Amino acid sequence: MSVHAAHSKLQDKALALLLANRVSGYSRHHSREYAYTCPSIGRYPYQWFWDSCFHAVALSHYQPDWAQKELQSLIAVQREDGFLPHVIFWELGAPRHYWKYLQAGSFLRPAITLYIQPPVIARAALTVFRASGDLCFARQMLAAVRRFHTWLRCNRDPDGDGLISIVSPFESGMDWSPQFDGLFRGALDACWFGPRRLDFQHRLCGHRTERMLARFDVEEVATNSIWFDAQKSLATLAKALGDQAVAEEETCGALQTQRSLLEKCWNAETGAFFSLAGPREAMLGVRTVASLTPLLLDHLSPQQLDCLVSEIEDARGYGTCFPLPSVAVREPPFRGRPRQFLWRGPTWMNMNWFVVRGLLKHGQHDLACRVAQASASAIDRSGFRECYEPHKGDGLGARQFGWSTLVVDMLSLTA
Ligand code: GLC
Repeated sequence: MSVHAAHSKLQDKALALLLANRVSGYSRHHSREYAYTCPSIGRYPYQWFWDSCFHAVALSHYQPDWAQKELQSLIAVQREDGFLPHVIFWELGAPRHYWKYLQAGSFLRPAITLYIQPPVIARAALTVFRASGDLCFARQMLAAVRRFHTWLRCNRDPDGDGLISIVSPFESGMDWSPQFDGLFRGALDACWFGPRRLDFQHRLCGHRTERMLARFDVEEVATNSIWFDAQKSLATLAKALGDQAVAEEETCGALQTQRSLLEKCWNAETGAFFSLAGPREAMLGVRTVASLTPLLLDHLSPQQLDCLVSEIEDARGYGTCFPLPSVAVREPPFRGRPRQFLWRGPTWMNMNWFVVRGLLKHGQHDLACRVAQASASAIDRSGFRECYEPHKGDGLGARQFGWSTLVVDMLSLTA
């Protein structure tokens, strides 16, 4: 089969998956209509924040109107103060997971969680607007996302350095990533009890921001690279709508985030970017795929770009047959085929999407193409899975997993 025919088959399969995972209805619980794509039927029935943003990007290639609905469902539950949750429970009847109780505001009638996920919504809104050209949608998104960004600045940047803090590993979207092992009582605690204990403690203090930050405060490198991209995207959206003031403020915010990432998160000795923990900003020196996401920044020194590119190509780094492993292969916690804790080695398509976009930004077209093609091969081989074993490409975790359809966007960006 020609490459072209193979890609168009992949595109058809991606659309079929996005249609099959679509959920819509009227929530009596929230007193409103909803429409979203669940990450995986059965395993992940709710609406997750960054999953929906990724689904919207993929849907923008086929049905921009549905992509709009997906994002509109997310902002439908925005709190007065601008907060957007990491999970929305539209129906009460769905299976009950522990975090539904611990991470949600209400114990008995959980409606939303009180955590965030990386702020991908501005990028998703801009992508969908470019596909649909719908100005009314763009204005609605600009207002809501602007309020969310303001909430993040006011509540999650206690030291005012332009880097936002997460209060739990779950807020990074990379649950159980070994980046955070050093903050718990060893790897075992980090995998099992630590994050759950933290959920419990956060719940006991009513999810009050200062109390949560006193327990866990990480300026996580992927969340902040995404935050940079988010502010730039919102500035672009604001400019397109003629709102110069918002455009300038978001651009200023982006520049500060970029400056702090470059000054504080870069470790010149090891040649890698790392997350920072606590008010003293201690570096969490485990190389994970998060360390590659500063490729999203506008400015990297030639040395920084060289280090990131050679890590991606190095077989002991991220250069496996089915890149990019979520933990560098040479790192002791790396596990290519974990039974659970899937962010400790396997390859995830959403991270590949960020890295491909970053590589293109820095003129690394060939490498971006290779990562996109390898992503497509993993999917050809194993279907749209939650993640993939990085050497053999075997599928792991949930099946028919929504955000793996981002491959469609990767192929179109690198075509
Ligand atoms: C897992 C992932 C998280 C994702 C969720 C739903 O918890 O770690 O990032 O949002 O599943 O797919």
